[in-house]
Amino acid sequence: MNITPLKNKISEIIGSEKSTPEKLQSICDFLKEEISYYDWVGFYFKNGNKNELKLAEYAGEETEHTIIPFGKGICGQVALSNENFVVQDVQEQDNYISCGWKIKSEIVIPIFVKDQNIGQIDIDSHTVSPFTAQDEELLEFTCTLVGNLL
Ligand code: SME
Repeated sequence: MNITPLKNKISEIIGSEKSTPEKLQSICDFLKEEISYYDWVGFYFKNGNKNELKLAEYAGEETEHTIIPFGKGICGQVALSNENFVVQDVQEQDNYISCGWKIKSEIVIPIFVKDQNIGQIDIDSHTVSPFTAQDEELLEFTCTLVGNLL
């Protein structure tokens, strides 16, 4: 995968005249559309001063997991670890919140504002082991730009 044009498009969205929620929605739509194995793309953010994540913009099927306590599932673990979490096969994870039988793998990258972990981008895939270092690079790039917006 050549991620340079994808990074360029993400930069273009971030630099556009849209509101921040519109930019986040466009990023979700763009990544889901462009990358064949991205089947659900969403942003979760810390919910006020509560130790939980709240779903914000997303592209893909509706999910009942709109609130995730810190520590629960892949997303909740990233809220505490401050580190990327690449799950090539969700069946190997005990602390995982299922969003349906179709989901086989997941990648979550944290978003920082002034060194604080304030949220994350979460991607679900219907494919086992689809993610490479390039996904992490593209998504870290995206999260850095999103962090600068907030
Ligand atoms: N699978 C996630 C829950 C959120 S959904 O993927 C949209 C998790 O284990 O945290």
